[in-house]
Amino acid sequence: MTIISPSVLSADFANLAEDIKKVEAAGAKYLHLDVMDGIFVPNITFGAPVISAIRKHSNMVFDVHLMIDRPERYIDDFVKAGADIITIHIESTDKVLETLRYIRSKGLKAAISVKPNTPIEEAFFYLCELDMVLIMTVEPGFGGQKLIPETLAKIKALKKYCDENNYSIDIEVDGGIGPDNVGLLTSNGANIIVAGSAVFKAADYSKVISKMIAEGDRNSYKS
Ligand code: DX5
Ligand code: ZN
Repeated sequence: MTIISPSVLSADFANLAEDIKKVEAAGAKYLHLDVMDGIFVPNITFGAPVISAIRKHSNMVFDVHLMIDRPERYIDDFVKAGADIITIHIESTDKVLETLRYIRSKGLKAAISVKPNTPIEEAFFYLCELDMVLIMTVEPGFGGQKLIPETLAKIKALKKYCDENNYSIDIEVDGGIGPDNVGLLTSNGANIIVAGSAVFKAADYSKVISKMIAEGDRNSYKS
């Protein structure tokens, strides 16, 4: 079953609570929260205080994507803010394993993300210590970019490796995804789909989310 995780990055920041309630009412089960520090990526967004403020307005799964340098310094803040899943970038720290274990020790789901140019094989080592791998389908930093087609092969390779080695994890994809190409991602093995502009720039959130779930399911991965 395809899960859509709308990215707040494309929401109306002046009316965040309203936008989030609308997306939840439209059928979204996850909410993707892009935290950027202007160092790991060339953009700055928001941090734990904003997540904590919107937590009161939503029951969705808070899917926190940390695009920050040495994220291990801030895990406690995001746990307290109400994150359900915390994703760290494999390229952002030399403490990947310790940080994944720490996130799980707090009762949360732990995930790693890989940028488009990072070989997916680098994620294999961590698979028994995590719940999800987030494969970036654009360079992290900004919403509204075009999906990089070369990243599709990474999804397939990860799915194959997980199947062969009995790892039952979620595969999330992020960047440049909408109703027209979601099937490409799910057919390669992704099951959690981040969508920023495709959802928040649409006139009807419910229509676009339902269409993306239907298209994702219709094209879902067959081994
Ligand atoms: C990019 C972020 C994405 C972004 C996706 O660095 O990680 O989550 O919001 O936006 P769209 O769906 O517009 O490409
Ligand atoms: Zn993201």
